[in-house]
Amino acid sequence: MDRKELRSKLAQLQAEGKIVPPMSLIKTEEQLQGIRESAAINTALLDYITPFMKEGITTEEIDKLVYDFTTSHGAVPAPLNYEGYPKSVCVSINEVVCHGIPSKTRVLRSGDIVNVDVSTIYKGYFSDASRMFLIGEVPAAKKKLVEVTKDALELGLQEVKPWGHVGDIGAAIEAHATKNRYSVVREFCGHGVGNAFHEDPYILHYGKRNTGMVMVPGMIFTIEPMLNMGSRNISVSRKDGWTVTTVDKKPSAQWEYMVLVTEDGFEVLSH
Ligand code: MF3
Ligand code: CO
Repeated sequence: MDRKELRSKLAQLQAEGKIVPPMSLIKTEEQLQGIRESAAINTALLDYITPFMKEGITTEEIDKLVYDFTTSHGAVPAPLNYEGYPKSVCVSINEVVCHGIPSKTRVLRSGDIVNVDVSTIYKGYFSDASRMFLIGEVPAAKKKLVEVTKDALELGLQEVKPWGHVGDIGAAIEAHATKNRYSVVREFCGHGVGNAFHEDPYILHYGKRNTGMVMVPGMIFTIEPMLNMGSRNISVSRKDGWTVTTVDKKPSAQWEYMVLVTEDGFEVLSH
């Protein structure tokens, strides 16, 4: 479908009362090409750090690996100085839900579950993805949280198809979390990405089918569910203004994919 056909199809859907994306969220071929390059660096970065994710490394050392890899590829770490964020990556361990700030004093220990969230700017185009890592001997209950969170993301991903609703993604994720007696964090959600770090639409990881924006080929967004072993309640550090933790101090896990809506489904651009 070319942009002209798309425009009239969107006008028709809007007349039927649906929430449709503005054309600015439908990436052009030129934008898509740049975003793919950014996303390829972002995925390569996650692959690069993987063998370093072992007992004994400090989160500050992980930050340096991320900074050096990214800049050596002619790219910029998107988190660095983003709204005052002081580092190049978020490293969130155990009860830290997201936005963990790397530090010289936090050493990865056996039993930790760790999310590394990386975002890259290349030629002005943004990419974003995160993975979980298990350090040493991880108790079965924490391992299960990590696995169920990944499965929830995969189930959400299967809902990505043109003319579906973004609410279908959240409904699938929430159903899988609930089935496993985990809770879903509501304060943070997936988001459009590519021309900026955070764009419309917002992708809730809970909610109802057939609600929210219609998915259209050429849209790009993240799906990045955070599941908690205990209650969904979170708090933001008063000390650093960033670190998000569970209120009950029980573990939380997150995986994040960056996804393109295609003519017949989806393509994962960074993972
Ligand atoms: N990477 C996060 C996301 O998934 C955003 C982190 S903002 C930062 O949207 F400033 F903390 F890096
Ligand atoms: Co994101």
